[in-house]
Amino acid sequence: MDKRTAQLAATDRPATGTISEEHWSPRRRDFLRILGSGALAATLGPIAGCSQGNASSLIDELRRQLVADDRFWAEANAMFPLNPAKRFMNIGTAGSMPNVALDLFDRENRAKAAECLSGYTNLLAERTQVAPGFGVDPDELAFSSNTSSGMCHAILGIQWNPGDVVVTTNHEHPGGDVPLAIAAARYGIEISRVALPVGNNQTAATYVTLFDDQIRALRTQGKRVRAMMFSAPTYKTGTMLPIADLMEVAKRHELISIVDGAHLPGMMAYHYGDLGMDFMSGAGHKWQCGPGSTGILIVRNKIRPSNPLPLPNWYPIHTSSWTPRARTTNGTATWDIASVITSCGSLHTPMFHALVSSCGVWDQLGRKKIETYDLTLAAYLKERIAEVWGVDRLYSPKDDPKLVSALTSFNPFMTAGDVLNSTKSGQFVARMLSDYSPGFVIRNVNVPVVGAPSDHYAIRISTHLWTSVDDIDRLVAAMYDLSRKMG
Ligand SMILES: Cc1ncc(COP(=O)(O)O)c(C=O)c1O
Repeated sequence: MDKRTAQLAATDRPATGTISEEHWSPRRRDFLRILGSGALAATLGPIAGCSQGNASSLIDELRRQLVADDRFWAEANAMFPLNPAKRFMNIGTAGSMPNVALDLFDRENRAKAAECLSGYTNLLAERTQVAPGFGVDPDELAFSSNTSSGMCHAILGIQWNPGDVVVTTNHEHPGGDVPLAIAAARYGIEISRVALPVGNNQTAATYVTLFDDQIRALRTQGKRVRAMMFSAPTYKTGTMLPIADLMEVAKRHELISIVDGAHLPGMMAYHYGDLGMDFMSGAGHKWQCGPGSTGILIVRNKIRPSNPLPLPNWYPIHTSSWTPRARTTNGTATWDIASVITSCGSLHTPMFHALVSSCGVWDQLGRKKIETYDLTLAAYLKERIAEVWGVDRLYSPKDDPKLVSALTSFNPFMTAGDVLNSTKSGQFVARMLSDYSPGFVIRNVNVPVVGAPSDHYAIRISTHLWTSVDDIDRLVAAMYDLSRKMG
């Protein structure tokens, strides 16, 4: 046994805090017995034994689904130049370009430099290629610089009046919150926040009620509610706010709808023309695995059956190609809004071509297939967390299919209250990378929790197409090992 193995094999002091032994399920005891045996600790390899026993269990079924197509996913994994010494589970912050996109990017960069090529274009051909994968027409899909830039296009382009109210949540990212704050300072809008629940004890109906009640209460007070803005999923708990259900609320109250969908492109196979929101701003560089500084902004540019409300008055805030024209009132666009947004001076075209290449890989692999795999990995991870730590440690819902995403947040600490300690949470993230081989790239995130004295610092894990079920088992084993070591 080498030194590192011996360190891992050494049993730490017994668990304390809210993880109390008498409440452990037999499966959880098995898991801990295997952890303590040292056999697992030797490599932190797959914990096959943990999912044996009750063959009909959900965990076994999820595992079976995940390995059913393992050769396909191993080949998908091989398409990326990922460092094999690490397991990349923070795609919610940054993805990785597939080799085919990287090669194209490299070739085009060199050709651009060799020939002094310009970038004056609205990327119509590229938008035409990518748009069907998102269920929209090319005039409804713009390329932006990233999610935040798309949110600026959306929010700062709307013709606001002083006193207009935007109903949003307390779990928003600065990418959406900051343009809202600018609109408040500059145009006098008001921001009203719904306080979001955390954990598994919630359903899609919870969100409909929260938004609907808030809008009605504001209107009763005489407020002019004009828009809803929300993240789906939130970057904090990975809760997928139920877009289709919330669009019904927006339509019922005749509101402008703005979705911060940073994590949607490349994770979820949504058809935005069917969802009907006014704006959905997504990242190109996260789950879609395009280059940095790329984003996909979906803009409603015609009346579709999914949303019969008139198009909002909107003006471009970042363009070099606009002439004043009225927006359409029917199913035929009067102008290509996505062209105006995309076209702002000279673009770095190799960057967007690499994004298009990556989108092509997704279309080839199958967007729905990737979504199913990512969500099944997350479901497996959540069940493993519930098994080892208890379901109450999850910040992400797991049981309502409308609320799940491939982001999982939870509290791994032996003493539950330690999740309030941001330093300890940061150390957990750092040690998951430094203390294990392979190292795990994950992150933590502050979560405002209703009734809590201060934010919780949950651990967040992203599960994407290059991750295997064995990676999840290694991750769970390492996280449990580390949580015991950190006490
Ligand atoms: C919900 C959400 N919105 C916006 C952003 C900002 O993304 P970008 O870097 O693409 O602007 C993030 C980044 O993690 C996010 O999670």
